Amino acid sequence: MTDKAGTTAGGTTGPARAANAARTAVVWEALQELLSHLGDGPLEVVDAGGGTGGAAVPLAELGHRVTVVEPNPDSLAALERRAAESGVAVRGVQGETRDLASLFEEGSADLVLVHNVLEYVDEPAAALHDVVGITRPGGAVSVLATNAVAGALHRVLTGHVAEAHHLLADADGRWGESDPMPRRFTRGQLQQLLTDSGLHPTSVRGVRVFADVLPGQAWESDAHTGQHLVELERTVAQHPELVGIATQLHVIASRD
Ligand SMILES: C[S@@+](CC[C@H](N)C(=O)[O-])C[C@H]1O[C@@H](n2cnc3c(N)ncnc32)[C@H](O)[C@@H]1O
Repeated sequence: MTDKAGTTAGGTTGPARAANAARTAVVWEALQELLSHLGDGPLEVVDAGGGTGGAAVPLAELGHRVTVVEPNPDSLAALERRAAESGVAVRGVQGETRDLASLFEEGSADLVLVHNVLEYVDEPAAALHDVVGITRPGGAVSVLATNAVAGALHRVLTGHVAEAHHLLADADGRWGESDPMPRRFTRGQLQQLLTDSGLHPTSVRGVRVFADVLPGQAWESDAHTGQHLVELERTVAQHPELVGIATQLHVIASRD
C-alpha cells in the first residue's frame, strides 16, 4: 500500500500512480471492512514484512496498536519517519517471520498482515505457520501476493511468449533465471497454502485487474482515466472470473 488516500511520493507516472491508487483503494477498503468485524478496537495488528509502513501507519491512524516486523533496517528507519510525520506511534522491530513466535505471545494478534512477503521468504508454508501461531482464535490474516497468471499475461503483452510458457510450468511461477521476482502464486496455490496452514480464506480480491494492461495512449486521450480506472478496479475486485488475471491477489483468512 502507499497510503489510504492513494497518494505516492513524487516522481511516479500517471499509470504507476493509478496502479498504486487502485491497489491501495481495493486493499484498504477490504481491511476496513475486516477491522469492523474484528471488534471495536484498538486492535493488536502485526505487519509481517511491513516495509516502510504503507499499511501500518494508516492502521495506526485509525487508533490500532501496530507492530511492524521487518528485516531491513532502512525500511524501519523510513517507517519511523513516516509514523512521526503522521503523528502516530508504530512499533518497528527488526526481524523476520521466523522470529514472530519469540516476539509475540501465542495467539495475541487480532490481525496479521503478510503483504507481498510470501514471494520473498525461504518457505512460504513455514512463514504462514509462524503467522498463524501469533494470530488469536477468531482473528484474521491478510495476505497479498503476486499472481502467476498475471505474470504470464504480462510477459505475453510485452512480447515474451516463451517466458510466459516457462512461468506457467515453473513451480515458483518464474519466467526464467533473470526474473527478479523469487516466486508467484496462482489463486489455487495461495488458497491451498492458507488452508494447509489452518486458516479459512473468507474472501479473495483481485488487485490491479486492469491497471497493468491499460495501453499508454489511454492516458493521453482522457484526463479522467486514472479516476475511471480506480473506480473500475473497485468494481471488479471480487468479480469471480476477473480476479484470476489480477496482478495481485488479496486473500483474507480467519483463524478458528
Ligand atoms: C515487496 S516488500 C513489501 C513491503 C510491504 N509489506 C508492502 O506491502 O508494501 C517485501 C518486504 O518483505 C520483507 N521480507 C523479506 N524477507 C522477509 C522475511 N523472511 N520475513 C519478514 N519480512 C521479509 C522485505 O524486507 C520487504 O520489506
